[in-house]
Amino acid sequence: MTPSKYKILITGAAGFMGSHLVDDLLDMGHEVYGVDDLSGGYMDNVNPKSYFTVLDLRDREKTEEYIKKVKPEIVFHLAADATEGRSQFTPINCTQRNYMAYLNLLVPCVSTGFKKMILTSSMSVYGSQNPPFEERMERCPDDVYGVSKAAMEKTTEILSEVHGFKYVIIRPHNVYGPRQNMADPYRNVIAIFINCLLNNKNFYIYGDGNQKRAFSYIDDFTPYIIRAAFIKEAEGEIFNIGPTKEYSINELVRVVLKSFFPNGNIPKNLKPKFLPIRPKEVINAWCTVSKAERSLGYKTTIGLEEGVKKMIEWARKKGAQKFMYLDDLEIKNDKTPLTWKKKLI
Ligand SMILES: NC(=O)c1ccc[n+]([C@@H]2O[C@H](COP(=O)([O-])OP(=O)(O)OC[C@H]3O[C@@H](n4cnc5c(N)ncnc54)[C@H](O)[C@@H]3O)[C@@H](O)[C@H]2O)c1
Repeated sequence: MTPSKYKILITGAAGFMGSHLVDDLLDMGHEVYGVDDLSGGYMDNVNPKSYFTVLDLRDREKTEEYIKKVKPEIVFHLAADATEGRSQFTPINCTQRNYMAYLNLLVPCVSTGFKKMILTSSMSVYGSQNPPFEERMERCPDDVYGVSKAAMEKTTEILSEVHGFKYVIIRPHNVYGPRQNMADPYRNVIAIFINCLLNNKNFYIYGDGNQKRAFSYIDDFTPYIIRAAFIKEAEGEIFNIGPTKEYSINELVRVVLKSFFPNGNIPKNLKPKFLPIRPKEVINAWCTVSKAERSLGYKTTIGLEEGVKKMIEWARKKGAQKFMYLDDLEIKNDKTPLTWKKKLI
């Protein structure tokens, strides 16, 4: 498949990563369609040059109707409930928005004879195996979100084998940057830290802060998911995408505070506080990226300090956001993290 002009559908098109993808695919001259139910994304993110429809992929009939009408050739699936830590407290919502919504999309795509699915999965499928994670390691998720992503991956492989469509699976990690939802108190650690500071509130660290992650600036993600979609070599493959340099949460905190207060004067009330680790939180999670380097020409170009600075610049322009909590969690008990139960941020 060469990058000529295709009819492309992006789900989650009003979201953070989906909206950047829409912009780049439009710049390449494709006919771009987007859907999103706006549960976690914003109309402000939607590129007016794309054909955008508000659609909840949990609605099987409407999704089927839409796919039969648009008949996309290539689909990038990014719509999701991406609240990994919360998924132990909202397992039904997570499964419906991830696994079930994906089936509602994939089945009519197969029936209308689409060409290729680019599935955005997650590093959560590796669970608590020893990092760095390699694509050939087995799927053994440790949380409900990871289970839904692993099921989506496996179902894609099975249905592709039976029905003959092409696919690529992408496993990004901790992507951050402009347009990320800062109002969500359940996910996006960098966005939460920055939004707390904009709100003149301290933020909270679950555990001792020594858990390690790698963080990808959005500009080091979008080009590679696009490249993966258009090269033959990537078909039927899984790719980790993201930098290999890992940081502890405590190190991340230092980077965020240094960028937010470049003169080093951090107000006392904004010093972060520690809380018990969340249930099922994987301690160390980062991956190797050599497969993407070889096949997709992946290169990390924006380090954490530079990326956080850019994100803070954008966030200051956007201004402080009010954190938006769910009306109720599906399971609320003594295991529920305090920041959610008491709405601490
Ligand atoms: N950001 C990260 O760090 C990261 C890391 C690994 C994987 N991912 C995956 O990448 C994808 C994009 O993540 P993001 O960070 O841009 O999140 P996001 O929340 O900004 O985007 C997801 C979009 O999906 C939409 N959506 C949710 N449920 C829907 C439904 N039922 N029907 C239609 N639209 C629906 C939301 O409104 C939102 O706009 C997700 O699949 C996520 O699991 C993200």
